[in-house]
Amino acid sequence: MPPLHPLFLSPLSHTMAGNRLSPEVWMLLLVAAACAHAASSAKPKVCDKGWECKASVYCCNETISEFFQVYQFEDLFSKRNAPVAQAVGFWDYHSFITAAAVYEPLGFGTTGGKLMQMKEVAAFLGHVGSKTSCGYGVATGGPLAWGLCYKREMSPSQSYCDQSYDYPCTPGVDYYGRGALPVYWNYNYGAIGDGLKVDLLNHPEYLEQNATLAFQAAIYRWMTPMKKKQPSAHDVFVGKWKPTKNDTLAKRLPGFGATMNVLYGDLVCGQGSIDAMNNIISHYQYYLDLMGIGRQSSGDNLDCAEQEAFDPSTASSTSSPTAAST
Ligand SMILES: *[C@@H]1O[C@H](CO)[C@@H](O)[C@H](O)[C@H]1NC(C)=O
Ligand SMILES: *[C@@H]1O[C@H](CO)[C@@H](O)[C@H](O)[C@H]1NC(C)=O
Ligand SMILES: *[C@@H]1O[C@H](CO)[C@@H](O)[C@H](O)[C@H]1NC(C)=O
Repeated sequence: MPPLHPLFLSPLSHTMAGNRLSPEVWMLLLVAAACAHAASSAKPKVCDKGWECKASVYCCNETISEFFQVYQFEDLFSKRNAPVAQAVGFWDYHSFITAAAVYEPLGFGTTGGKLMQMKEVAAFLGHVGSKTSCGYGVATGGPLAWGLCYKREMSPSQSYCDQSYDYPCTPGVDYYGRGALPVYWNYNYGAIGDGLKVDLLNHPEYLEQNATLAFQAAIYRWMTPMKKKQPSAHDVFVGKWKPTKNDTLAKRLPGFGATMNVLYGDLVCGQGSIDAMNNIISHYQYYLDLMGIGRQSSGDNLDCAEQEAFDPSTASSTSSPTAAST
């Protein structure tokens, strides 16, 4: 039962004030009181876990820092501070947990029990690792050990300014890819900045100066639907989303594959077994292995090779805040 609207309870306070009431009204009040009681006893308890997770039912489960510790972050991103890495010294565990703390009360990494929680962290970081990797076939430690090597696009071929949108470009500012799930284009910086209440349209450089903010922007994208009435990557991964008949016909089903569909649409999905898709899957599975879960727990619908995009780029042009990938 949803919480009762305060107005609904106001007749009770009139009683306290000594108003005379008819039997019918008394009956109503008894029903209302019983209903209010049922509502309060059915209301799930909320928990606090210090600064990391406050005042939410999700905080009753383990927090991310309880099952994902600094040594695990170091394992996953073991080469990020190698001398050849572009972002040496930038990314760290503390920034990730600080950023995650904003979204843990909303269910990020705190939904569904420990296995699902660990899998969601592996899935999110799998996207991050793949998009920030400078690993290649012969790299030491293997191509998957190089996540969080970059914090920005190195040789932008353009300034990613599209003046026809709600978020006009600031003169002299470039909107090349930056961050943990790199953001491209003025309209994406504008929309994500609105979501975070940070002026990223005028200051896209914040995403390459502040690792906490960069992780926050990435988790915001993971938790937020790209368009109204569409699910978020979080929703499709943790099983909060029920496919409609249209989704089923378009082969969109809950799982890791649909997270790529939400975040990248037809840049990655619906094109068969392409490298851009397989690279993201490989990072996810490598992290599952390193976290001791094992890739056998990757889950159903791991890829999106046959999925039609939630948000086809031809139909909607580039108006949605979907960041392009390089
Ligand atoms: C917390 O974890 C339990 C399993 O340990 C799970 O059943 C429950 O759904 C989780 N709570 C939330 C809010 O996801
Ligand atoms: C980095 O970003 C975080 C999150 O928005 C903010 O709390 C913090 O103050 C920022 N740090 C600096 C040095 O600006
Ligand atoms: C289902 O797909 C059809 C054809 O693409 C479309 O016309 C219709 O609006 C869709 N229905 C929903 C509920 O999205």
